[in-house]
Amino acid sequence: MIAILGAGSLGRLWAATLPAGQVAFVPRPGQAPAPVCYRFQPIDGESGSTIIPWLQPGQSPDLLLVTTKAGNTLEALKAALPSIAKQTPIVLFQNGLGSQQQVTETWPDRPVLAASTTEGANRPAPGLTVHAGRGTTWVGALNPAGDPSVEWVAQQLASSGLMVHPEHDILARLWQKLVINAGINAFTAILDCPNGEILTQPFYLQWIAPLCEEISRLLPAAGQPQQAPEDLRETIEAVARKTAANTSSMRADVKAGRTTEIDFINGYLARLGHQHGIPVQVNQMLAEQVQQLN
Ligand code: PAF
Repeated sequence: MIAILGAGSLGRLWAATLPAGQVAFVPRPGQAPAPVCYRFQPIDGESGSTIIPWLQPGQSPDLLLVTTKAGNTLEALKAALPSIAKQTPIVLFQNGLGSQQQVTETWPDRPVLAASTTEGANRPAPGLTVHAGRGTTWVGALNPAGDPSVEWVAQQLASSGLMVHPEHDILARLWQKLVINAGINAFTAILDCPNGEILTQPFYLQWIAPLCEEISRLLPAAGQPQQAPEDLRETIEAVARKTAANTSSMRADVKAGRTTEIDFINGYLARLGHQHGIPVQVNQMLAEQVQQLN
């Protein structure tokens, strides 16, 4: 049994694609007992109705996927983990960085893994989850206790039919995604526009070069390979062009009145800069501007 904590777009994508009958959502305290029902629209083919039960009291899963927002992860796991066996691998799907470290520090003996995915899923209407873009998911251990289960976890996830690879340096993958999110998400939220439109906006054009300089200095401080600011900008802009019509997750959060993940993206980079004495004015400014949107 694979349990999923977090019934948002990504949680529903995995729940709908993993083999039926082997998946359950983890209830939050006080959650209604009725199963989670929604229509799932795959990339190819007709949409169909999906019914996912809740994990029952006393039922301990073989694998726990955590698809909560970064800011809710610690609290949600504190409620869920007491009834989940100590050896059950936990796979964290959160955007950005910071929440993963909170989990490995709080439960150092549990097997903790992280996944970085480029799968696109959204919920354009209540009760409908759309698999909007095919991607790849990498999964790797975040602590020594997680190491032995990487291959097995990758196989379990691949039973969904989605593309999944084991990854020995998952932190590097998380950093690559963090760079992209740091260069796109805050701008789309502040400018209230789809990803591609930031590229011609004066606010973006003013700040992207100094932002990339800050990130370029932060990477080696975080133990990651140095990348030139121009290369970082090229990576960010290639993704912005490829996803030009998309609403970023941060813009969607602001529009829906949800707390954004800014503290785990530009906010995380600003905290890292402060720790290492590296100037992070642009990350700090973007973090503050997004915090004011909530
Ligand atoms: O957070 C997001 O929305 C995505 O990671 C990205 C790459 C910005 C595309 O929309």
